[in-house]
Amino acid sequence: MARPKIALIGAGQIGGTLAHLAAIKELGDVVLFDIAEGTPQGKALDIAESGPSEGFDGAFRGTNSYEDIAGADVCIVTAGVPRKPGMSRDDLLGINLKVMKSVGEGIRANAPNAFVICITNPLDAMVWALREFSGLPHNKVVGMAGVLDSARFRHFLSLEFEVSMRDVTAFVLGGHGDTMVPLVRYSTVAGIPLPDLIEMGWTTQERMDAIVQRTRDGGAEIVGLLKTGSAFYAPATSAIEMAESYLKDQRRLLPCAAYVDGALGLKGMYVGVPTVIGANGIERIVDIRLTKDEQAMFDKSVAAVNGLVEACKAIDPSLA
Ligand code: APR
Repeated sequence: MARPKIALIGAGQIGGTLAHLAAIKELGDVVLFDIAEGTPQGKALDIAESGPSEGFDGAFRGTNSYEDIAGADVCIVTAGVPRKPGMSRDDLLGINLKVMKSVGEGIRANAPNAFVICITNPLDAMVWALREFSGLPHNKVVGMAGVLDSARFRHFLSLEFEVSMRDVTAFVLGGHGDTMVPLVRYSTVAGIPLPDLIEMGWTTQERMDAIVQRTRDGGAEIVGLLKTGSAFYAPATSAIEMAESYLKDQRRLLPCAAYVDGALGLKGMYVGVPTVIGANGIERIVDIRLTKDEQAMFDKSVAAVNGLVEACKAIDPSLA
């Protein structure tokens, strides 16, 4: 059987890391697409040349032509500009919306059967716009944010409790921005909910509040350190986790920016919710119950996402 074809739209920091991870995990043949001439070709060749030492098989190709993504099984989109210090994800809206238009049209024409994972920020609005421009079914177009935000939360919790990151589970819902909702009640260490661990004296409410805030600011913390761009190792790893669940029909339950129509009281919008990813794309959205306080935080996040979507419609009337 032919290897799956993975198209990476954007061959920058995240795109290059995605290609390297896909290679090492032998997920399929990789096509790196970018408007910058030479960058995708150079990265593809460089990664291919790491094959003999690493011991993987696969074809790696860089291109500036959308025709080369023809028939892709998975497209992961990072095309656009990243944040610089002092910028919020929302500041990227105008520039990246135009990029989503050209990417959406490229996917529509060349890879209409792909499972599409968007990473470009501001995430929830960009994945919505990409879906509109591409015209693909809603269950095949999804945004990567919750896996990354949850991974950051899990990392900080593992430091706090001095336990393996593998034994920490965590849930972050809502939009990928300052209003994201790290759900303490649904997060655990080996199944023990965080509120119980506070009661058991493993940590305090104050320290937990600080960890929640650090999670919300996780992207900005990296931008502040790097100064010339935003995070790329963890975002790429998170998207690969989602792509692998689709390609191998793993049915992982992962928080993703998915199209929600009915669940959690929402009517037709993209926002971070718990989803099941399998061979049919988004197979299920978990309609979890929230407390009054959690619901209020989630509503605020939903309102922020809706505000960005309205801003997109104002910029590009074809979306209205
Ligand atoms: N089509 C294809 N590629 C494009 C386009 C376009 N219209 N416009 C820009 N690009 C390419 C750039 O040439 C660059 O190689 O997108 C790439 C982006 O790479 P980086 O600048 O290194 O950004 P990266 O760190 O990979 O982040 C990409 O993901 O996390 C988000 O906020 C981040 O929106 C940003 C995106």
